[in-house]
Amino acid sequence: MTARLLHLTDCHLFSSPTATIQGICTRDRWLNVLRQIEPEQTRADRLVLTGDMTHDDLPETYTVIRETLAPWWPKTRFVPGNHDVRTGICEHLHDRIQQTGKRIVFSEPVGPWQLIGLDSHVPGEVRGELGESQRAWLAEELSRTSSRPTVLFLHHPPVDAPSPWMNAIGLTDRDQLWSLLRSHAQVRLICAGHVHHESSTLHQGVLVVTTPATGVQFTPESDTLVVDDLPWGYRVLELHDEGTFQTRVVRLPLATVCASRPDD
Ligand SMILES: [Fe+2]
Repeated sequence: MTARLLHLTDCHLFSSPTATIQGICTRDRWLNVLRQIEPEQTRADRLVLTGDMTHDDLPETYTVIRETLAPWWPKTRFVPGNHDVRTGICEHLHDRIQQTGKRIVFSEPVGPWQLIGLDSHVPGEVRGELGESQRAWLAEELSRTSSRPTVLFLHHPPVDAPSPWMNAIGLTDRDQLWSLLRSHAQVRLICAGHVHHESSTLHQGVLVVTTPATGVQFTPESDTLVVDDLPWGYRVLELHDEGTFQTRVVRLPLATVCASRPDD
């Protein structure tokens, strides 16, 4: 059996259905993505969101998340991004999260694979950090499940981004993470968000991918934040029984993109 996962990230939703970032309505794009993945509801095993779920941390926005994800709710897993607030997630998404200390994490088997979600949120900061106690928890989880091929999910990618401004807001303890992973060769894939564009990097034999935001796209190679005209999207992961995997990004069809632009 092949496990099928969808990875969505950086929705940046507001309580207002018409609120925008850089002139882009993140709610419209979120709803576009949910319509696109509707046929996946019966065959996908998990829907993983790696942070920046809300842009305003308002209770009404969490209600939007719960209501729009209702058909997916039992399969949904969350880890926070820099824009999220842990107390908001704990209060409003309490039935979909696990915690180690204050960190919002998850660790569970799906078929022969282990899925582990990590919390790189640092309150009030854009950069990310896992911290010593969470890294110790991760080491324990990886030791406990050492025979299972593993995917890690977190908001901040633990590799260089193509843009210097993104590296300045990256994962500050990534060297410690990679040091830990040297002892746990079962980690095959790391899925992240934060940079709002697609990328793929092989590091220490582990494939690290970033997934386009469901909302605003950033130009990968730029000295400053520049909004990219590419369609928004999500990622599909297929995890095979023998420990191999395939992954690809799906972007919204051009017709949908044009139809949702207010100036078209
Ligand atoms: Fe984001």
